[in-house]
Amino acid sequence: MSKIFIVYWSGTGNTEKMAKQISEGVIQGGKESEVAEVSGIKPEALKELSVFALGCPSMGAEVLEEEFMEPFVAEVEKFASGKKIGLFGSYGWGDCEWMRDWEERLKNAGAEIVNGEGITVLNEPDDETLEKCIELGKTLAAL
Ligand SMILES: Cc1cc2nc3c(=O)[nH]c(=O)nc-3n(C[C@H](O)[C@H](O)[C@H](O)COP(=O)(O)O)c2cc1C
Repeated sequence: MSKIFIVYWSGTGNTEKMAKQISEGVIQGGKESEVAEVSGIKPEALKELSVFALGCPSMGAEVLEEEFMEPFVAEVEKFASGKKIGLFGSYGWGDCEWMRDWEERLKNAGAEIVNGEGITVLNEPDDETLEKCIELGKTLAAL
């Protein structure tokens, strides 16, 4: 049984909390999960997997974090075709342009975004968002 990988970057812990809840949902859904901070994993680890999740807050000016997550996602794009990818992340003040751009980019690379769109939350995840994360984890486990 293949593990569900959840790879994230988080500066102040909001997106990390979402990653951990998604992992909890995966386990509740009966699969093993691996939560990995992006600097500690190579994109190749995802290459043979058909389902995984990526998380990153809105950084810069509505972009992914540039030192680790952006190059990681650029590599994932090369083999994203046919994969089912869950997306999630926190934001602070924008209108979630970063997430729309991220969804579009992976769709253009041939991936399917699980549930059609990423989970976004303003700042710290509230209970409703944490529940959505659990549900996403269960969905990933069932795919
Ligand atoms: C350098 C920097 C740039 C940011 N740029 C944006 C932005 O363009 N749009 C936005 O909505 N929030 C922006 N934020 C706010 C973060 O997305 C927000 O604080 C988020 O909750 C951080 O998530 P984390 O705790 O997982 O790091 C920025 C934060 C920092 C530190």
